[in-house]
Amino acid sequence: QPYRLLGLCGSLRRASGNRAVLLALRAALAPRAELTIFPLDEIPPYNEDDDVAPPPPAVAALRQALADSDGAIIASPEYNHGMSGVLKNALDWASRPYGQSHLTGLPVLTLTASPAFTGGVRAQQQVNETLAAVQARIVRRPQLVIGGIHEKLGEGVLTDAATLRFVLAGVEDLLAEVDHLQHRHALA
Ligand code: FNR
Repeated sequence: QPYRLLGLCGSLRRASGNRAVLLALRAALAPRAELTIFPLDEIPPYNEDDDVAPPPPAVAALRQALADSDGAIIASPEYNHGMSGVLKNALDWASRPYGQSHLTGLPVLTLTASPAFTGGVRAQQQVNETLAAVQARIVRRPQLVIGGIHEKLGEGVLTDAATLRFVLAGVEDLLAEVDHLQHRHALA
């Protein structure tokens, strides 16, 4: 049974470097793990008045996708030293209903990619703070910060082998956390 992983990308940009990293992971992990990238384009702005049953369809789909996953990989750009509003908005929706979020207890790996040398590290800190608020199981090491992303892409595809190896090391930690949680090692 392959691991079921959910990928969220905080950038909606067609040529997103963050999405390129997720796409490279999806290819590298198959068939051992299935990484499904859930698009955040249709998630409406969070409004607590609308956070009732049934939730907006895109929100219901996001929550169900999280419920159906063994773990998640969240990739965010850094916008003005923080995570993108798109991602924060999606995480706020996913954090509800209060006490019943499918993020709670879910193993989550976070990564950031930026053309800057700093690689979006400040945004990643924010993502981790938000995930801590909802008690996700954050896989923190190695800290997956990718600087100079624009030099690591060719035709929009992640071509830098060292970067892929680096990120895959983080995914191993994520899968180990899933194993630990699901006692997969005992069943294997
Ligand atoms: C940026 N960018 C940026 N980069 C960074 O490292 N630190 C920052 O604070 C910011 N701030 C920022 C604000 C806004 C509004 C934009 C549009 C961009 C640059 C950003 O890292 C770059 O556009 C990335 O390519 C975005 O990620 P994707 O879309 O490639 O995944």
